[in-house]
Amino acid sequence: MKMNMHIVLYVLGAICCSGAYKILVVYPLPIRSLNILGEGYVRHLLKAGHEVTFITAFPKKNENNKNLRQIDISSNAQIFAGDNTFTIKHVMNGEVPVNDVKMLQEFSLACSTMTFEHENVKKLMEDPTQHFDAVVVDLYETEVHAGFAALYNCPMIWSYSMGAHWLVLRLIDEPTNPAYTADYLSSNVLPFSFKQRVEELWAQVNWCWIKWTNTTPKERAAYEKYFKPLIEKRGRVAPDYEELVYNASLIFGNEHYAFGNLPRTPQNFKFIGGYHIETPAKPLPEDLQTLMDNAKHGVIYFSMGSTWSSKDMPKSVIEGLVKMFGKLKQNVIWKFEADLPNVPKNLKIMKWAPQPSILAHPNCLFFISHGGLLSSSEAIHYGVPIIGIPIFFDQFVNINKATAKGYAVKVTLNYDLPKNLEEAIQVMLADPKYRQKAKELSAIYHDRPLSPGDEMVHWVSHVIRTAGAPHLRSPALHVPWYQKMYLDLAAGVILALAVVVVIAKRVFGMRKKEAMKEKKN
Ligand SMILES: *[C@@H]1O[C@H](CO)[C@@H](O)[C@H](O)[C@H]1NC(C)=O
Repeated sequence: MKMNMHIVLYVLGAICCSGAYKILVVYPLPIRSLNILGEGYVRHLLKAGHEVTFITAFPKKNENNKNLRQIDISSNAQIFAGDNTFTIKHVMNGEVPVNDVKMLQEFSLACSTMTFEHENVKKLMEDPTQHFDAVVVDLYETEVHAGFAALYNCPMIWSYSMGAHWLVLRLIDEPTNPAYTADYLSSNVLPFSFKQRVEELWAQVNWCWIKWTNTTPKERAAYEKYFKPLIEKRGRVAPDYEELVYNASLIFGNEHYAFGNLPRTPQNFKFIGGYHIETPAKPLPEDLQTLMDNAKHGVIYFSMGSTWSSKDMPKSVIEGLVKMFGKLKQNVIWKFEADLPNVPKNLKIMKWAPQPSILAHPNCLFFISHGGLLSSSEAIHYGVPIIGIPIFFDQFVNINKATAKGYAVKVTLNYDLPKNLEEAIQVMLADPKYRQKAKELSAIYHDRPLSPGDEMVHWVSHVIRTAGAPHLRSPALHVPWYQKMYLDLAAGVILALAVVVVIAKRVFGMRKKEAMKEKKN
């Protein structure tokens, strides 16, 4: 009897008070590093007992967690089909357009359209029995996915792969002042010179101009095409697109205070940088463990990330690097995505490498990296200094910031890479300050009240429990810019002055005339 009572209580508890929510996580871009960030959300939310539906271009095979449903959009990768110009060699030859804002906005919208057109996503969206308590959407150059929040009539949470940048803060608060905050694609580091301040202002103006005149009308049309009829079918009036876009409950930023120089942020911007890193690190495979344990002079780890491949470097550069590494006393682990015969004994080539576990090993001396945000945050997580070879996108600003902080050395990506990298390696090996600085920042980074994953889960639940957390929203969001700058007051004052001047002139003029008349008489 007692036993039965327990079971009844347990079942009742599970039904009414479990706090298990249904959450939709949307990662439309077929970019592996972004998807790793999506997987981070999924892992933590599942661990907390929630039910997750994950729209992903990289679904996991053999996934058997019954609380997880994956919506496979792997065919979105077709957007890159036939385009083989995005390789390191093409970048070295100057053949890849650098940071073209219009291209980025349109690329992102194109991926979204592919997602809405995908039969798996259509099936989900058109099914009127589907309900979610919140949607978490990757925010990358388009806000069109806000439509999901309207479709499911639930709070919307943006997950942003980078830090507190003006172009996402504008969605929940206001754009930050370009005089002291760099654009996300800019490589300017504070303090700015006059020219840099002008560049930052121009970056904001240019981005907004392209967005308003080119991209937003297309996004609104996509919203009206893919979401509006489905919302109406569910018996609701579809909200205006503008209203929706500025109606997020939260933004999660993949950054942390440790990096410094952050602008102020509103209460509903949460820094959860590092949440994607699994702790503790998974054990190393046996051969690597032995290699790293026995590396008398330490290990150098080299990887250009998951999107760019070392194998695409020009042949002469690869040969030069192999020869240069062979001269070192240290062991080198190089994530290199092809076979490479006849490498020296101290060089280990791996097509895929368990990066966090390598960085976690105490014998890992430093990390030669392209400076992508995931690699950069993993380096800080484990307190490993960086030799940065930025290729594209935000990598320049990441490496410039790390260099300014004193835990990185930058090397330019060109045909002299073997020689320049060798010099940087000697600098790193000779001076312990880089390592000290990395450890110092790592300590700041880990000094938090909650782990970033737990913090994220808390805020997602908070948003759901409080019906979209309206109390966290910034009052600045709905005040027009001319009111914030008191331009209406300024206009009023100018008008009043003008009136006074006109009246004064009249009165003065009349007196003058009278005086003249008197004189004549
Ligand atoms: C804005 O979000 C709140 C909270 O999630 C929701 O109640 C409201 O309906 C949303 N408004 C629009 C226009 O979508």
